[in-house]
Amino acid sequence: MTKMKTDLSAALATGFHMNADKMQMKVCSWNEWDPLRHVIVGRATGCHIPPLEPALDGKVPEDSEMRGRPGLRPQNTIDRANELLDSFAELLRRRGIRVDRPTPIDFSQAVTTPDFSTGSMFGCMPARDILLTVGQEILEATMSYRCRWFEYLCYRPLLQSYWEQDPEFRHESAPKPRLNDADYRRDYLSDRITVQQRLQWTAEKHFVTTEEEPLFDAADILRCGRDLIVQHGFTTNLKGIEWLRRHFPDHRVHAVNFPGDPYPIHIDATFTPLRPGLIMNNPQRRLPDDQRELFSRNGWEIIDAAPPAHNEPPPLCYSSVWLSMNVLVLDPKTVCVEKSEVYQADQLDKLGMEVIEVEFRDAYAFGGGLHCATADVLRDGGCEDYFPKQG
Ligand code: GLY
Repeated sequence: MTKMKTDLSAALATGFHMNADKMQMKVCSWNEWDPLRHVIVGRATGCHIPPLEPALDGKVPEDSEMRGRPGLRPQNTIDRANELLDSFAELLRRRGIRVDRPTPIDFSQAVTTPDFSTGSMFGCMPARDILLTVGQEILEATMSYRCRWFEYLCYRPLLQSYWEQDPEFRHESAPKPRLNDADYRRDYLSDRITVQQRLQWTAEKHFVTTEEEPLFDAADILRCGRDLIVQHGFTTNLKGIEWLRRHFPDHRVHAVNFPGDPYPIHIDATFTPLRPGLIMNNPQRRLPDDQRELFSRNGWEIIDAAPPAHNEPPPLCYSSVWLSMNVLVLDPKTVCVEKSEVYQADQLDKLGMEVIEVEFRDAYAFGGGLHCATADVLRDGGCEDYFPKQG
């Protein structure tokens, strides 16, 4: 009994189930809403505020406390975020969902390649940023920040074990980018860019990353069966979208952009599908009319997300208050929402969903909300065509 308890604690501490290597497992997920069976939940351990670099210069607001404050995040905030991440993982396990956890590496290490060097890494809380699951494949994204170049290493123990266990699993990695200065626009390096200027640039699709080489973060991609909806913005360029198009020849890949967002990084606080035919859009970042046609032509309803409950993001946070809509759909009738986001919870409740409240706000600064912190391994269902009328 004591031995069994020890094994269980060790298994929970490492994030693996007992005898995980002997358990049957399968990688497969085609969309954001089918019943979730197996997921990765990130960790906050060792998370750093990286030094500024060209991509981050375009992201961290001029008045942010994070400017000039690189290094390990305060340990009490790391402990608190880990407590919330562990509780979230336990909540999912109690609902019968298998949960795995990444293995943090030493993020204080500099990232040096023949093309660049930067003072530290970031962390491994937002698994969604790195890993894109499309059917039986998990693809490691190129990423577009230098500090995130080696982040995939935190997921390699899991991906290797999936590869050993599931003979149909395809472990893929997109070409590692050079990330030299040619990848970033110099005009974003100024300290004096107004929000108005940023809004004009993003509306004109003048983003911080250039078209030097394919770049994408996995969190810019929404999976809707045969269709992949990809945000063109700071972290994903047109060549990255073209790379995805060639890599997934059986899919239709649609580039979208959202004027109104001064920092267009990752689609999941902007455009959130809830079930086939229903998607929430951030009302401050509306999808342009010409891009809405695909949805209306196929009977999809795009609704405004409810307003956030907070006026400010938590301290030392990269994300906006719109993490309110960064929800994790467990199945088309069940959704996890951050506990303090009462307006978002109320909207989803009125849409007929069971809302599971998850306390998570103190983890936001480590890389985002409930959707950001997770990556799908297995959902039920197959690759359906939700947009048969392509126009
Ligand atoms: N891009 C995530 C946010 O709105 O904060």
